[in-house]
Amino acid sequence: MKNYLITGGAGFIGSNFILYMLKKYRTDITIINLDNLTYAGNLENLKEVEKLENYRFIKADICDRDAVMKVFETNEIDRVIHFAAESHVDRSIRNPEVFVNTNVLGTMNLINAAKISWETPDGYKKDKKYVQVSTDEVYGSLETEEEFFYETTPLNPHSPYSASKASADFLVKAYIDTFRFPANITRCSNNYGPYQFPEKLIPLMINNALSGKNLPVYGTGKNVRDWLYVEDHAKAIDLVAESAKAGEIYNVGGHNEKRNIEIVTLIIDTLLEILPEKDARRDLISHDLITYVEDRKGHDFRYAIAPDKIKADLGWEPETPFSKGIKLTIEWYLKNIDWMEHVTKGDYQKYYSEMYHV
Ligand code: NAD
Ligand code: TYD
Repeated sequence: MKNYLITGGAGFIGSNFILYMLKKYRTDITIINLDNLTYAGNLENLKEVEKLENYRFIKADICDRDAVMKVFETNEIDRVIHFAAESHVDRSIRNPEVFVNTNVLGTMNLINAAKISWETPDGYKKDKKYVQVSTDEVYGSLETEEEFFYETTPLNPHSPYSASKASADFLVKAYIDTFRFPANITRCSNNYGPYQFPEKLIPLMINNALSGKNLPVYGTGKNVRDWLYVEDHAKAIDLVAESAKAGEIYNVGGHNEKRNIEIVTLIIDTLLEILPEKDARRDLISHDLITYVEDRKGHDFRYAIAPDKIKADLGWEPETPFSKGIKLTIEWYLKNIDWMEHVTKGDYQKYYSEMYHV
């Protein structure tokens, strides 16, 4: 029986990871989900597991030393999977400080607590693992269509978000190099799928299209992101936690580079394909909703991951083709209109009108 501490488990990737793990391992694992429920954290995502005896939620900030230390003191934690973060680039441009607090100082606090609790006089307790869930954005931006990010690519972050994630990666690496701390770092490309907050490209476009609102495309719409279905990411993290040699870094990507405008066009087309003929929302949706708006400051041009190392070492490959993943995602949002209504109440409206000047 392994005990997992999952931080940020009420967010998009964290909740998908918890659902995946409890489906896969059932009662062979226990999960503690530590999350302070920012605007991005939503316990509704975990309704189907909240009553399980081997799942527990703790509302706490990863920066809170006593709260984090207490989790390690009162539980024999075997795996830490660290998702908790401020994760949205646009918010980091508007308010960088909270990104440093959570992403840098929070990570520092967490690795310190794990190190203290796992240390023995001659190393660490057996079979312990910490996984730092990082992002391809730490590598910066590719300016041509031919290059890829490898694990050896120097870190060159541009946004306050990616700078804070790179700082956290360096701290974890320092703990690996200095203290032989049993950790891995994974650097994944853009995720999409159920439960993603509608500040990110795909759910924002789905939500706006369904209510006939403009679809705001930054700059030329030619920027490229490499999209990975969130469950494929969950599988990669599980594999790294279980099978990767401590200290290794792995890039995780979808082999699926798309220009933003292609994504927006595909969402419109897929909605029109899926929605029944008599659904009134069809009349609101058209390509005329696409609106080019002011570009993001410092907008990274292209991200593209070479996931060769994780394939060679651990046999991981993206499984979900984009054509299938985007349909699953849109169908999920159509079935979960209530979820969208709940998360877009209150603060979201304020964020949206400030961000998009409407
Ligand atoms: P998210 O914003 O959806 O969720 C973040 C979660 O962390 C929320 O539940 C929030 O309440 C929690 N949280 C924030 N600050 C906290 C704090 N101080 N203490 C405790 N909990 C806190 O993020 P996501 O998209 O699920 O991303 C998860 C992780 O994966 C992040 O570390 C992110 O950098 C990384 N990542 C994301 C993507 C992507 O495409 N979304 C891609 C690669 C890597
Ligand atoms: P986003 O989902 O914020 O992820 P990231 O910036 O971390 O890659 O944005 C993905 C791409 O979509 C990025 O190039 C910015 C662009 N974008 C828009 O064009 N319009 C939008 O409203 C949003 C949120 C993003």
